[in-house]
Amino acid sequence: MVDGRSNSAQMQHSSGDAQIQILGRRFYEIELTQGQASYTQYCAACHGIDGQGQFPEAPLEPDATGRIGAPPHNETGHSWHHSDVLLIRYVTEGGFSDPARFYIMPPFGDILTDEQILLVIAYIKTMWTDEQRASQRQLTEDEQSMFSG
Ligand code: HEC
Repeated sequence: MVDGRSNSAQMQHSSGDAQIQILGRRFYEIELTQGQASYTQYCAACHGIDGQGQFPEAPLEPDATGRIGAPPHNETGHSWHHSDVLLIRYVTEGGFSDPARFYIMPPFGDILTDEQILLVIAYIKTMWTDEQRASQRQLTEDEQSMFSG
C-alpha cells in the first residue's frame, strides 16, 4: 500500500512522506509484509493488531492496577515522536519506564534479529500519516546531525 502506490493523486501531499525509511534506508512492500508478520506474532497481543494499543478506549489512563498499558502505535499514539535510534533501542532493550506505573515492554534483542527489529519498526511506520512520518524523519535526522557534528 505504501510503495506500490502508483496513484499519483495520493502522492501529492508534499508536506508529508509516503516512503517508509529507517535511518536513511528505504523499505519496500515485501519487507513491510515481513515486518507485519513479526508484528502480528510478537507485538499485537499488547499493542493491538492494528496498533490501537492495549486499552484503546483510554490508552493513557491507568487501569485498576494503577498501570498504563501498551501505547498505541498508530496515528493516535506518540511512537512517531521517537527517533529511529530510540525506537530501535526500545524494541531491542525493552522499556525503561517505572514498572509501578506502566506495564513492562519486554526486550526483543534475543528474540528477533536486528534486521527483524528494523522490519517491524518499518511496519509500524505504515500506521502513521505522511505528515507524522515526515516529522519523525526530520527528528531522526536532527538527532543524527547532532551526534555526527
Ligand atoms: C507484553 C506486552 C508488550 C509486548 C508483547 C510488546 N510491547 Fe511494546 N510496549 C509495551 C508497554 C507496556 C510499553 C510502554 C512501557 C514503557 O514505555 O516502558 C511499550 C512501549 C513500546 C514502545 C515505545 C513507546 C511508544 O510510544 O512507542 C515501542 C516502540 C514498542 N513498545 C514497540 C514494540 C514492538 C515493536 C513489539 C513487538 C516486537 C512490542 N512493543 C511488544 C508492551 C509490550
